[in-house]
Amino acid sequence: RGPMKVALLGCGSVGAGVLDYLRTHPDLFELNPVLVRNPAKHAANKQASFTSDMAESLAGDPDLVVELMGGADMPARVMEDALAKGARVVTANKAAVAKHYDTLVGAARPDHLAYSAAVGGGVTVLERIATLSDLVQIEGVMNGTANFMLDKLSHGEDFEAVLAEAQRLGFAEADPSADVEGHDAADKLSILIREAFGVARLPGDIPKQSLREVTGEMAQEAAKKGLVYKQIGRCVLAEGEVRAAITVEAVPLSHPLAGARNEENRFLLTEASGTVHGVYGKGAGRWPTAAAVFADIMDTRRAWCGDERGSAALPGSHPAAHAEPALARA
Ligand code: NDP
Ligand code: HSE
Repeated sequence: RGPMKVALLGCGSVGAGVLDYLRTHPDLFELNPVLVRNPAKHAANKQASFTSDMAESLAGDPDLVVELMGGADMPARVMEDALAKGARVVTANKAAVAKHYDTLVGAARPDHLAYSAAVGGGVTVLERIATLSDLVQIEGVMNGTANFMLDKLSHGEDFEAVLAEAQRLGFAEADPSADVEGHDAADKLSILIREAFGVARLPGDIPKQSLREVTGEMAQEAAKKGLVYKQIGRCVLAEGEVRAAITVEAVPLSHPLAGARNEENRFLLTEASGTVHGVYGKGAGRWPTAAAVFADIMDTRRAWCGDERGSAALPGSHPAAHAEPALARA
């Protein structure tokens, strides 16, 4: 088959990276005008034309819609419509997938919906979960902004200044209170609960602690005692019930989650046997996330083509991530 007709919705931290990948393969992808809020802001980017008109971006029934706008309800509606028309959809939008999981999965034909970058950015945690059948617990550092901020707070830096730095680096959500108040981690945990346990748990039903509960003094005192504050998402399956929460807690430096630095995400997947699988890697930022989105795009194109032509251009299957071997339970 010839080039796949693509609608790219969103060209921010992640979308700009995905656009770059798409443009390196003009033989494989033909791009509609890219949807943004403010096209004038993108005038210097000569890789594509930009529009704020959704209909223009979705003109001509694209084969693939890549949704990278953020938000939950509007993007979910757009994705549902595209899926209903038979298009394929790739997204990194955990808020939309978590809140509208049944609708989106229900509207998608097999292999038509991919969202591996939605949890863990460039970390292949959803792929690893798909290979494990008997999980009873998942815990992880799953928000890069929170991780980055807690680390900086322990070095005496100011809360608002480090939040602004996380925004500048492209880690934070458009509304950074999602990172600070635990909503982003809850979106990810909600998807993990679905994928690991097949249980519906809406992000709004997951209790969350705010990063604001930890002052700079608390973070520095903890460091003196050999402890480090982490925002941890945790879910446990016991007797058919799932308990889940986003906490901000001080863990000893020997804890497997303690060493996550900056935008690194770490996931510990525990099987009923007690075996723990650690999956670590870069969980936020333009390039790790764009690489994961583009891997989904290439897989999608390969399925669309029904041939192997796409595989030669795969970007090294999530280059930012690496999976640790199974760890013995401590
Ligand atoms: P940004 O805020 O950087 O970019 C959003 C893009 O979408 C911008 O180009 C913006 O336009 C456009 N946009 C937003 N709303 C609308 C709208 N209503 N109509 C038209 N265009 C719109 O977000 P990110 O790139 O950081 O994130 C994109 C998605 O990926 C989110 O769902 C996020 O949760 C997810 N994600 C982000 C990661 C990261 O590290 N940043 C990692 C993993 C997932 P304009 O440029 O004009 O403002
Ligand atoms: N805001 C998110 C984070 C982006 O900081 O982890 C990656 O999902």
